Amino acid sequence: RSIVILISGRGSNMQAIVRTAQTEQWPARIVAVISNRADAEGLKFAAAQGIPTAVVANKDYPDRAQFDAALRVVIDGFVPDLVVLAGFMRILTAPLVEHYAGRMLNIHPSLLPSFTGMATHRQALEAGVKVHGVTVHFVTPTLDHGPIVAQVAVPVLEGDTEQSLEQRVLIEEHQLYPRAVRWFVENRLVIEDGRVRINADP
Ligand code: GRF
Repeated sequence: RSIVILISGRGSNMQAIVRTAQTEQWPARIVAVISNRADAEGLKFAAAQGIPTAVVANKDYPDRAQFDAALRVVIDGFVPDLVVLAGFMRILTAPLVEHYAGRMLNIHPSLLPSFTGMATHRQALEAGVKVHGVTVHFVTPTLDHGPIVAQVAVPVLEGDTEQSLEQRVLIEEHQLYPRAVRWFVENRLVIEDGRVRINADP
């Protein structure tokens, strides 16, 4: 199975997936790491791992549709079975998302459907929730809304700041995302009526 990972910055989730795929000897390969920003730190890590990298800079395109069209050509050049959005900070248009229906995952730092969009840790603190967390989901045209693959709850502690909460969530992200990607690679994820079942064995 071939996996393409899209990043926009640090790429810590991408790094966790790359490392886990290596240590757990997945029957899959990360065939490319693609970013919408040439200065994305994660590109250096990927290159150092010998993973092909590419940049499709949104600022080089007049509109979202043309950016997405160019991005799709580059992604499909690697013939992926799975596209993983990992800290990828672009909202993708419906045609692109539908092209990858059932084979595009995203990680969102909240317990969806709570706190969609940006600044999720600030939203959680402002809402005064006692439990926050992270969600891995299939991507659909509706932002932060697709069938949920997995979630992990993270406690909000007295005195938490956006930063302390983000750090606690990030630790769980780095555990959860590789597991969810491995389930996909093992053909264990079945989407039925907008909900995901994880089969014990394929
Ligand atoms: C993380 O909070 C992740 O949940 C969100 O983007 C942030 C940065 O991720 N999707 P990464 O370190 O670039 O993987």
